[in-house]
Amino acid sequence: MKKLFTLKSIKSKSLNGIIYVPSDKSISIRALIISSICLGNSKIFNLLESEDVKHTMKSLEDLGIKILKKKNFYEVYGNGGYFEKPSYNLYLGNSGTGIRLLTGLLASRGIEITLTGDESLSSRPMNRIIEPLELMNLTIESNKGCLPLKIKKIDKKIPVPINYNLKIGSAQVKSAILFASTNIKGTSTIIENFPSRDHTEIMLKFFGADIIKKKNKIAISSPNFLKPKVLTIPGDFSSAAFLIVATLITKNSKLTIKDVGLNFYRIGLLEILKKMKAKISITNKKKINGEFIGDINVSSSKLISASVNKKIIPRLIDELPILFVAASFAKGESKFSGLEELKFKESDRLSSMAIALKNSGVNLEQKKNSLTIVGSNIQSGGNIVQTFKDHRIAMSMLVFGLASEKGIVIDDESMIKTSFPKFKEILNLVGAKIEFLSK
Ligand code: S3P
Repeated sequence: MKKLFTLKSIKSKSLNGIIYVPSDKSISIRALIISSICLGNSKIFNLLESEDVKHTMKSLEDLGIKILKKKNFYEVYGNGGYFEKPSYNLYLGNSGTGIRLLTGLLASRGIEITLTGDESLSSRPMNRIIEPLELMNLTIESNKGCLPLKIKKIDKKIPVPINYNLKIGSAQVKSAILFASTNIKGTSTIIENFPSRDHTEIMLKFFGADIIKKKNKIAISSPNFLKPKVLTIPGDFSSAAFLIVATLITKNSKLTIKDVGLNFYRIGLLEILKKMKAKISITNKKKINGEFIGDINVSSSKLISASVNKKIIPRLIDELPILFVAASFAKGESKFSGLEELKFKESDRLSSMAIALKNSGVNLEQKKNSLTIVGSNIQSGGNIVQTFKDHRIAMSMLVFGLASEKGIVIDDESMIKTSFPKFKEILNLVGAKIEFLSK
């Protein structure tokens, strides 16, 4: 029988060093997709080699796109927007970004194809992309709004551009519409009520698309003739977030994380942490392929409580689990509201984190869409955390263990590789104590 491993993190003395985190998952997936519709070869340096990214890469290869791994970059042979129809389904594993972005891309390309994923992805809502795509006269069949997604051939109705009022703060929905628009003649517009990460807009522009953003309105006009490019993927802020909080809550720690992506719509966590009196500074800020990057310098801090509401949520959506950990060690009562979207992630992260923290000794109150955490600089831990097969729950709670009295064991570490391969190794390199336990 296959041996299962779990991870244990124990109270660590201090974290110190200068390190790099793995490349950005969101940007890596977009780089593969956009390169595939150029006419010619693009080179991608620093592509994240995690499970989620590999599933998008494999799907594009299944669609006839040649992708070669060279010494220190990937070469993508763009087909100008033409895809071959594979005889089997596309499988996107755990990746919400992969499936939603590819569905948008393929829906307007005239091929009939089915997209599937793992158990967690199969329960996540897909009507949010189906609805705008259907307004474009594209047809996607689903199983009551969930996977599998069957993209139907474009037959009677001609695809049309849309003006879409996007009510939820979702970069995946926005990107699905933008990718579909790249093959629909005319101008589509999106009004964002809750602006989210704009990697797709930045990268489409970088590759030469006719895309204009004014305040919260995005307009994309097609046909688009995208030119192949050379690009470098920055470090993933969402991965850096675990190291940032680990440094803040452990004593005598000081860390520099190099070349991290600092897209405005990704770094809401820094704004909140600074209000919590975190000692954080940014140096060496510069721009690469349209994205801001820089070094994040952080040291141990006596945190105070925070108040987080709906407006900033899309700018820190993936960092909420680790922010809850920071709040658990902060002085006072932290209040988080407007958390609806947190429930539709790889797990229902509002419940997963409330259960995990409560069982680890944290004083908290969970309501329908909000959470109140009463922090303390001493947290007990000493329990086995259920991760619900969610990578960010696993990593957040391992970080919790580093500052807790009795440490933390997580029930399953297998999903960490979807976004942060070498999480354990990188944390241990700077002084953390995370080790395997076999069960
Ligand atoms: C992502 C957008 C966010 C985020 C996810 C990555 C992206 O999802 O949670 O991890 O790359 O576009 P939503 O668009 O569902 O908020």
